[in-house]
Amino acid sequence: MSKKKAAKPAAKKSAATPVKKTQKAVASKPVKAADAAGGNKSRMTENRLFKPSAEFSGKARISSMSQYKKMHEESLKNPDKFFGREAKELHWTKPFTKVLDWKCPSAKWFTGGKLNVSENCLDRHLQGPRKTKAALIWEGEPGEKRVLTYQQLHREVCRFANVLKRHKVKKGDRVVIYLPMIPEAAIAMLACTRIGAIHNVIFGGFSAESIKDRVLDSGAKIIITADGGYRRGAVVPLKKNVDDALKAKDTPVETVIVYKRTGQEVHIEEGRDVWWSRELEYVDAHCPPVTMDSESPLFILYTSGSTGKPKGILHTTGGYLLHAQMTCKYVFDLRDEDVYWCTADVGWVTGHSYLVYGPLAVGATSLMFEGAPNWPENDRFWKIIEEYAVTVFYTAPTAIRAFMKWGDEWLQKHDLSSLRLLGTVGEPINPEAWMWYHTKVGGGRCPIVDTWWQTETGGHMITPLPGATPTKPGTATLPFFGVDVAIVDDLGKEVGTDEQGKLVIRKPWPSMLRGIWGDKARYQDTYWSEFKGWYFAGDGARRDKDGYIWIIGRIDDVLNVAGHRLGTAEVESALVSHPAVAEAAVVGRPDEMKGQGVVCFVTVKEGVKTGRELADELKKHVRKVIGPVATPDEVRFAVALPKTRSGKIMRRLLKQIAAGEIIKGDTTTLEDINVIAQLVASGEN
Ligand code: WT7
Repeated sequence: MSKKKAAKPAAKKSAATPVKKTQKAVASKPVKAADAAGGNKSRMTENRLFKPSAEFSGKARISSMSQYKKMHEESLKNPDKFFGREAKELHWTKPFTKVLDWKCPSAKWFTGGKLNVSENCLDRHLQGPRKTKAALIWEGEPGEKRVLTYQQLHREVCRFANVLKRHKVKKGDRVVIYLPMIPEAAIAMLACTRIGAIHNVIFGGFSAESIKDRVLDSGAKIIITADGGYRRGAVVPLKKNVDDALKAKDTPVETVIVYKRTGQEVHIEEGRDVWWSRELEYVDAHCPPVTMDSESPLFILYTSGSTGKPKGILHTTGGYLLHAQMTCKYVFDLRDEDVYWCTADVGWVTGHSYLVYGPLAVGATSLMFEGAPNWPENDRFWKIIEEYAVTVFYTAPTAIRAFMKWGDEWLQKHDLSSLRLLGTVGEPINPEAWMWYHTKVGGGRCPIVDTWWQTETGGHMITPLPGATPTKPGTATLPFFGVDVAIVDDLGKEVGTDEQGKLVIRKPWPSMLRGIWGDKARYQDTYWSEFKGWYFAGDGARRDKDGYIWIIGRIDDVLNVAGHRLGTAEVESALVSHPAVAEAAVVGRPDEMKGQGVVCFVTVKEGVKTGRELADELKKHVRKVIGPVATPDEVRFAVALPKTRSGKIMRRLLKQIAAGEIIKGDTTTLEDINVIAQLVASGEN
């Protein structure tokens, strides 16, 4: 994102730097492994194999590789039969007549079928012993505990669905949910599905500005929020952020429902804002589920892409729920007796599929924790695992690397012997972190499922099956049922063993996104245009000699910072919205803890003083515009950005400079070679 005015005389200044010095400055920097995964070098040579124990396999639903292969083959060759059979495990109000209707890029799954998601997640478990089993176990950051049985959760969902109805929310309406990690988040989501409203959950770490964009884009007429949420002992002012977002002109929002969580005083706008608890007084607990078409929209979730504007990923009902249910069954092997904990926030897709919908669809007990892993101390997670006897644990590599850094003594204080299965998601895991997770957390006995997927895919796509797949530290291994993966070159030809290529999916799958909210063309362009008829994921990958898939990371202009997706263009657009900034280019650099860190190269307007103070101000500015998730790690001031003669910013060079690497590759197209020397020497001061 560049402002035209940016072409300031800066380039002239840099011309004074002799070329010779350029070359020297560039060459003297040390070489580092340049990869998103931090430690990808060892991922190239990793070959240890961990077979599931006979005990685990003996009880698992898929217990051998031959069983996996047979089922995978069937799922690709005969999806109608395979998914037709699997889908029978959902509760359909009206059975579907056709499994798949595919006309790229439009997929329709389970045509003619009707169902309701909340009915599948709640009502159908009320007939037998699950009625009184824990559906949700919750712990707040300050330490409060709540357990909601299936019966209780059902009741709360019905009541809140009636509250939504009272506020005239109808089938197809969009509802923004901006809540902390409290049971009410799941209740609000399920209540939307009960009446056919489309929820749009916004992560609590996003700013007022981001809320505003999402509210406007989705056309939501109602927002569900809380006064605040707890984060490491501090209060996140959620309601205040909503108020600020709604200062925008012409917002479609008519009602704000506020849940009292932190208790501080908040502004209540007469005629617009109502309290959650008061609203419940007007309703009863009877709310029959609305029958939805299999392809009815279920939710929108915004995610970053390679342009400045986040896109509203649209998921629909039948296929999404089936995939969430199937993966909880086959990948997490969830059973009635499990206590399953996914540490993701409901604001991300992982929280949707694997904290709420998947586990509840299979009738499992899902644990929800409001706080951070290191509050009040570094053993909070281990304490929770011990206290609730968690059996299946799903977290992100970033968290694992943080635990490693904090030291083993924190987990040695706790009994983790209840664990039987571990999972990771969000970014490539380095073998060292994988081994630590395996030995220290899993006591060497728990299989690890490294699950590769995306907001767009709705659920796991490449993952081991814990009772069947021998795992290797660092690889997500093999495709899930129905997933036809290929790694191809720019022309769409499959690359050879151990060669890097682009990851594509060649067949539709039930939980694939159905579109980008309000932007048909962008849906087609982003996912289906690079290779005709195939889904392009935006990731680079390679396949090893055993056919295992190693995800290398994003190859588009999207960063993965601590498992959170962030568009470089989004950060650039936030930077240039600051009055001091002329032009900005943002790149990722390998970061041992977070996978990638955010490095910003900034040129300032004429007469602006650069220095640490401005660097800090710009970091704060980005934080304010997008949210704390996007806070830059480094702001480097430059007199000019490296551009080709046609004016394109050479990001490849900036990435190398940010990583402190020797400049590799061709720089002959660079407009002004001296710019490089200045950039290498640039810092925050
Ligand atoms: C991107 C999707 C899927 C929910 C969380 C993130 C990266 C995700 C893995 C993994 C290597 C992974 C990819 C992907 N990613 N899981 N197991 N190994 N990389 O969802 O925000 O949509 O991000 O996360 O780069 O494209 P998301």
